[in-house]
Amino acid sequence: MNKIQQTPVVEPVESPVVELVETKGHAGSEWLARYSTSLMGVFGTPQRVLVRGAGCLVWDADGKEYLDLLGGIAVNALGHANPFVTSVISSQLATLGHVSNFFTSPTQIALAEKLLALGNAPAGSKVFFTNSGTEANEAAFKLARRNTGGGDTKRTKIIALEGAFHGRTMGALALTAKEAYRAPFEPLPGGVVHIPFGDVEALKAAVDETVAAVFLEPIQGEAGVRPLPPGYLKAARELTARAGALLILDEVQTGIGRTGKWLASEDAGIMPDAVTLAKGLGGGFPIGALVTFGVETSSLLSAGQHGTTFGGNPVATAAALATLHAIESQDVLANVAAVGEHLRSALAAVPGVTEVRGEGLLIGFDLDADVAPAVVQAGLDAGFIVNSPGPRTIRLAPPLVLTTAQADTFLAAFPAILQAAKDAQ
Ligand SMILES: Cc1ncc(COP(=O)(O)O)c(C=O)c1O
Repeated sequence: MNKIQQTPVVEPVESPVVELVETKGHAGSEWLARYSTSLMGVFGTPQRVLVRGAGCLVWDADGKEYLDLLGGIAVNALGHANPFVTSVISSQLATLGHVSNFFTSPTQIALAEKLLALGNAPAGSKVFFTNSGTEANEAAFKLARRNTGGGDTKRTKIIALEGAFHGRTMGALALTAKEAYRAPFEPLPGGVVHIPFGDVEALKAAVDETVAAVFLEPIQGEAGVRPLPPGYLKAARELTARAGALLILDEVQTGIGRTGKWLASEDAGIMPDAVTLAKGLGGGFPIGALVTFGVETSSLLSAGQHGTTFGGNPVATAAALATLHAIESQDVLANVAAVGEHLRSALAAVPGVTEVRGEGLLIGFDLDADVAPAVVQAGLDAGFIVNSPGPRTIRLAPPLVLTTAQADTFLAAFPAILQAAKDAQ
């Protein structure tokens, strides 16, 4: 039996927020005018002003309903306003909201233990909590800087892949490949070498005893949902182990059930040295984590060498515990696998779709024309939120609780959306 509990769509109760921000009676256009005069323009113009969500649905300031097939970019694992996660967050906040890292709290410890168990981490493995994916990778970058491969010589070289996206802070940006993101901020932390994507021979040539770490995304999300070829992770594990380099997997986008498994790298049958997580972990509440495997890697950063004010706070860790519990108790991973497979096979049969990639509910598909941004617009007009990571690529990363029936509404609408996008060109 399908155990997924859909969030009931009910009228929102009046919350104290309305006394701070009057959300009713203002059109989207009015909010956008205020946005453009008060917010930094780094995100361009927002597509819509969203005021409410329930399950896989959201509503904008003009009252229009959307099926959210992007889930806050792979974040809203249980959809919007999940009653269980909401109640756990509220009760934790009402009990103990924040303590500095001079102290700890039961939710922080319980979440670390849970993540280590889910990752089948051996004894001596450890967790460092952050507030975002880029911070998790920043911590991993510092971890790599401490790796000498057991020798006395400092290693500064780090290997990452062409197409990689690891975040926007300076260390994570150095790992990120896209020139347009990097160039305005150079010099970036040095030593990072980008090698061709998915090419084992290039990896073999690059990994030697001067390399501190290799950073990989099992599926490159921002590059258009590009999975590493079969065998690549295993080869990377063997090569890094031989050279004394760390294998660090960025599962910020692919982790926490997104691919139908806790970690996308599970099938490779390897144990990395570290994994970074964020996005889906808090079910919409900001939290990230660096998980280090084994005693040696877990001891590389010692007392005082890294830190954060907010990371691992009681509310964020309670939100993540609630999210993980709901995913487990409602068989969400099985739903991800089934609905993902349904979507991928149906999309592959749509005229104008040339390739479908991904796993579970991280799906990328290519179109036969450079109309992906126009598809996003036509999708919004038709009541669907999708994303275009490239000129002819559409990405779907919906809540993991998306039902087959909801997926079918998109599949039924998609041919007309694609046509409207082409007509608009
Ligand atoms: C693979 C990957 N790593 C890191 C990040 C950065 O995460 P955040 O935006 O939470 O800093 C992202 C965000 O898209 C990502 O997809």
